[in-house]
Amino acid sequence: MADFPAYFAVIGHPVGHSLSPVMHLAAFRSLGINACYTGYDVEPERLREVASAMRTLHFRGFNVTIPHKSAIMDLLDECTPEAVRIGAVNTVYVKDNRWIGDNTDGLGYLSSLTHELDFDVRGKRVMIFGAGGAARGIADALLFAGIDALWIVNRHLDKATYLAEQLAMHHISQISVLEAGTWPEVQIDLLINTTPVGMQGHLAEELPIATDYLNERMVVSDIVYRPMVTPLLTAAAKVGARTHGGLGMLVEQGALAFYRWFGVMPPVSVMREAALEAMQRERT
Ligand code: ATR
Repeated sequence: MADFPAYFAVIGHPVGHSLSPVMHLAAFRSLGINACYTGYDVEPERLREVASAMRTLHFRGFNVTIPHKSAIMDLLDECTPEAVRIGAVNTVYVKDNRWIGDNTDGLGYLSSLTHELDFDVRGKRVMIFGAGGAARGIADALLFAGIDALWIVNRHLDKATYLAEQLAMHHISQISVLEAGTWPEVQIDLLINTTPVGMQGHLAEELPIATDYLNERMVVSDIVYRPMVTPLLTAAAKVGARTHGGLGMLVEQGALAFYRWFGVMPPVSVMREAALEAMQRERT
């Protein structure tokens, strides 16, 4: 009998920019796993039909990206508590023939902070810019890991307030909201940008923070990875703050998805290298 590969994919719209295929294919190659991984551009109105086809074809797992992270939840058999709290799924795996939705974004973020900076978030004061899906996943993981206090800053305050209320339903740490352009009176340990400001195509937009607020006692983190060094990270490095770029979160959320599918951790450095090479090719 032919030894057919196991099927994996990322579904999104658009999906052409996704680095997930190169990262996972590199991990499969390096571990000698007989599997393929591709990207499917799925328009929202076709999500149900595509999901049904993937079940018929016995996909072993897949990743989900914008704009399907919430909509996919209705098409699964079950979701993990993380995915339910965040209201979004980025990884689907199969267990006992059931499709399970999980979210590895927040944990991926935490892992990259630990692995790259050896930074322990427990007891820390954290300020986060943005109140969208990325902020929600990261904030949930940070609160779960035991940060002391969280401040959410967003240009539309009502969205920050909504996020704070949602998080407060599950977590007991102090959660506050701040108007854009203001900051807490206390020293912040970790400052995170989850907005697209600083990303290619958004470079002309203003930094989400007055740079004279930054200081050398902070870790400054940006989830943007194109470019890898954003204007916020440049400003932070200038004042001596420790900096943390977005590529690590991308790689680690992928590695955790791989773990859900195979029960072993992939070689994270191989995945990172593949992502870096692909970004290098984009530039040439
Ligand atoms: P994601 O799922 O990637 O977090 P999102 O849900 O669209 O994406 O959220 C993007 C976040 O970045 C939002 O908090 C958004 O602020 P608003 O809620 O006020 O729209 C924020 N954002 C986007 N562009 C921004 C800009 N130019 N300046 C400041 N914040 C911005």
